[in-house]
Amino acid sequence: MFDLIVLGGGPGGYLAAERAGHAGLSVLLIEKNKLGGTCLNEGCIPSKTLLNSAKFYEHAKHGAVFGVSAENVKIDQTAVVKRKDKVVRKLVAGVGMALKSANVKVVEGAGEIIGKDAASGEIRVKVGAETHAAKRLVIATGSEASAPPIPGLREGMANGTILTNREILNLREIPETLAVIGGGVIGLEMASYFQTVGSQVTVIEMLGHIAGPSDREMAALLQKSFEAKGIKFCLNAKVTSVGDGVVNFEINGVADSIKTSACLSSVGRRPIIEGFGLETLGVHTERGRIVVDEQCQTNVPGVYAVGDVNGVYMLAHAAYREAEVAVNSMLGKKDAMRYDAVPSVVYTNPEMGAVGETEETCIAKGIEFKKVVLPMSYSGRWLAENEGAEGKIKLLADMKKQRLLGCHIVGSYASEIILAAGMMIGADMRLDRIKEIVFPHPTVGEIIREAVFQL
Ligand code: FAD
Ligand code: NAI
Repeated sequence: MFDLIVLGGGPGGYLAAERAGHAGLSVLLIEKNKLGGTCLNEGCIPSKTLLNSAKFYEHAKHGAVFGVSAENVKIDQTAVVKRKDKVVRKLVAGVGMALKSANVKVVEGAGEIIGKDAASGEIRVKVGAETHAAKRLVIATGSEASAPPIPGLREGMANGTILTNREILNLREIPETLAVIGGGVIGLEMASYFQTVGSQVTVIEMLGHIAGPSDREMAALLQKSFEAKGIKFCLNAKVTSVGDGVVNFEINGVADSIKTSACLSSVGRRPIIEGFGLETLGVHTERGRIVVDEQCQTNVPGVYAVGDVNGVYMLAHAAYREAEVAVNSMLGKKDAMRYDAVPSVVYTNPEMGAVGETEETCIAKGIEFKKVVLPMSYSGRWLAENEGAEGKIKLLADMKKQRLLGCHIVGSYASEIILAAGMMIGADMRLDRIKEIVFPHPTVGEIIREAVFQL
């Protein structure tokens, strides 16, 4: 009998277990695969490790423009993947140690919920032959790659001829050509990596723009930067079938196809809500995700759902915060999840960072806004470090309330400096207060200060 059982050891699950353990609860965490989940093993960390190698390669190849030349620059994909595996091993071991120091008991195996005892309120979860019970449950089973009913896609994913994030991050050879179905975050990050290291990449996207819900002007700028590097885009493209090294699609009813040596399917991810007895608790689901309230609690008291499984944000840092909110709620501490200041980043080259409203969401919600758009070359540091690149920052503000609504950046360091804008929005800072902040000089981040003055 535990105070809490956590199902799934990804960012949502392991952080919930760690925080609850440190708060003195007796915690059991059940993980059927590897601690760290998608993020550490086949998502955030592996992809960023690869992208960092691409950055080194590009610098070495094109260093002459900065006065640094190198000959015979080569990318060794096997070494890149080996290093990625080393980084992953270290982080996964770190999660294990953190759980140990929080006194969390970890059980390897697939957990299956077998119900809640009406009299005692105990929730029972089976792992192999053993049954465990707890007063509370955190469901953090994550998500998996979607497989829409495109002829040939599911068969290809099953026999390995169509790659998902799992396989592409382990490719030991750089394909001559790569077709990417889906121009969202995974598609763009992998397109950026493989184009840099030598593949000819084509992105096939069903919408008229890349990067999903991102601010359109910034997504268009990102696309332009990628096109300058040689990535091809087929937008408004409906994929009709895949197989045998061919992707067939239609654009405005006109059939087209491309031959390719490798094909990645990155058309979104779906929460894992089946196959582990969720139905035995009567947990409310909607459109394939578990419905939760502001405390990340489901309709069943004591049962929480954090991370990708609740389908709200599908980002590791959102999962972390949701885990904390859920644990605080169990401990009787006042806390609530808010999503208005959750930054998102596309870690391509160039990077794109965003937080808050976009122009499109402001218009859809009827929010009056003022915008300012500055080229990144306003930053001396950015100019010193970039040649021939194009980047921009866009701020959106509510001038009546004197508050920032959104910040969008395309350019190097976007992933790091977007945090500053996130803090300004999250802390509900007035524009005149932001103007008083002293930024270090020269940094790329000080462009936020400049843009606020321009507002
Ligand atoms: P997961 O990490 O998916 O973990 C769920 C865990 O539950 C898994 O380990 C699984 O084995 C386990 N599990 C499932 N069912 C059971 C069961 N019945 N019993 C026991 N265990 C079970 N997010 C970012 O914020 N930044 C990024 O840069 C980023 N990059 C990404 C790159 C890629 C290629 C992908 C695919 C995703 C990326 N993400 C990124 C998203 C991020 O990985 C997820 O948002 C995050 O992993 C969600 O955490 P989670 O705990 O909800 O689920
Ligand atoms: P996504 O939702 O970001 O993008 C999927 C894209 O595929 C969309 O643009 C969609 O219009 C397109 N699409 C869907 N069906 C299609 C079809 N039949 N033909 C052509 N295009 C189609 O999903 P993605 O890239 O798979 O990533 C999943 C999630 O993982 C992301 O939403 C994000 O939450 C997370 N992630 C986060 C990263 C980060 O934070 N840097 C990196 C990678 C993933």
